[in-house]
Amino acid sequence: MEVGVFGSGSMGTGIAQVAATAGHDVLLYDNNPDALKRAQEKLLKILNRLVEKDRITDAESKAIFGRIYLVNSRFDFKNCDLVIEAIVENPEVKKAVFEQLEDVVSSTTILASNTSSLSIASIAAACKKPERVIGIHFFNPAPLMKLVEIIPAVQTSPEVTAKSRDIIESWGKLTVLAKDTPGFIVNRVARPFYGEALRIYEEGLADIPTIDWAMKEIGGFRMGPFTLMDYIGNDINYKVTETVFAAFYYDPRYKPAFTQKRMSEAGWLGRKTGRGFYDYSEGAVNPEPKKSKKAGEQIVWRILLMLINEAADALYLNVASRDDIDTAMEKGVNYPKGLLAWADEKGIKKVVKGLDALHNEYLEDRYRCSPLLRRMARDGKTFY
Ligand SMILES: NC(=O)c1ccc[n+]([C@@H]2O[C@H](COP(=O)([O-])OP(=O)(O)OC[C@H]3O[C@@H](n4cnc5c(N)ncnc54)[C@H](O)[C@@H]3O)[C@@H](O)[C@H]2O)c1
Repeated sequence: MEVGVFGSGSMGTGIAQVAATAGHDVLLYDNNPDALKRAQEKLLKILNRLVEKDRITDAESKAIFGRIYLVNSRFDFKNCDLVIEAIVENPEVKKAVFEQLEDVVSSTTILASNTSSLSIASIAAACKKPERVIGIHFFNPAPLMKLVEIIPAVQTSPEVTAKSRDIIESWGKLTVLAKDTPGFIVNRVARPFYGEALRIYEEGLADIPTIDWAMKEIGGFRMGPFTLMDYIGNDINYKVTETVFAAFYYDPRYKPAFTQKRMSEAGWLGRKTGRGFYDYSEGAVNPEPKKSKKAGEQIVWRILLMLINEAADALYLNVASRDDIDTAMEKGVNYPKGLLAWADEKGIKKVVKGLDALHNEYLEDRYRCSPLLRRMARDGKTFY
């Protein structure tokens, strides 16, 4: 099978590596020749590193590299059975690309978008055969992250959905099925990890290193929210929140924080600029957390409540199945546990009580408890 990857930035390069490692011939295209050159250099570097670390042999590395063909024209995609688009996150540009691609490929080629935030239905609508269009959402870095969200649009045929899932699973990935709604699973359910941490900080309840310490050491998360925002980049993370917020018709649950907007405006984007919530310059000394177990537990509980509420509401609104929601958060963003399993462990009644206490305190719709949790508490039910 020949796979086309349209766009050779961070994601396109990673996806090309994954497909070539699975044995496919991959055509990698970008409209910027410099981006293609960078992709080639990056692939060589990564494959060499994998050989050094004994993950693959030298022969395997050469074979993978040899299967990735850099192409200068979309017309080279004519024999591709699957094309994954990973260009700039702009709906008009994406739609134009899908329209042009359809004129090149065969009638059975699957056309997929790696978009993080755009509606798959709107991209599919640009095609004459919208039933062949689907969202295939990899996580960054694509070769390392096991999870891939599969997002059929309302127009997508069940055959295309099933075939896409099979192909991506044959590449060693774990797929989850998500409804075509803003943020799909991960980028929706994870919003409070950042948003509630920012809120706690803005209220002055705790400082940045303390919130990070609590979430990592007490919550068991791999990184604290501010460390993670600095890692992702405050510009990118802020933009995702803003997009999800607008896409949900300004539901206050997803409201972005001024703190992060200002970081972004100041150019304090995180690791990539040497300064974000923390200072990454050489010799910089960052403040120490205040390691109070009680205060730390309160921070974790509040953020966890909001995450559980979001996961429960995603299930309530049929965004995905129970298992897929938990798998997505464990494998897509490395949460220590699935949030619905975590809710069971903490007790659904206790979760509802915690959310109601926040709601009563702030009288903000942001803290409304999902109807699903409330019903489950009333009926004494658990997720598992
Ligand atoms: N970076 C992430 O963490 C991440 C994760 C999941 C999904 N995504 C999504 O993947 C897509 C790509 O993201 P990225 O981070 O790789 O971006 P990027 O900026 O690293 O790469 C985009 C590439 O697309 C090329 N490009 C732009 N317009 C083009 C066009 N009309 N034709 C051909 N090539 C074009 C650019 O030259 C660039 O090389 C976006 O839709 C993004 O939302 C990103």
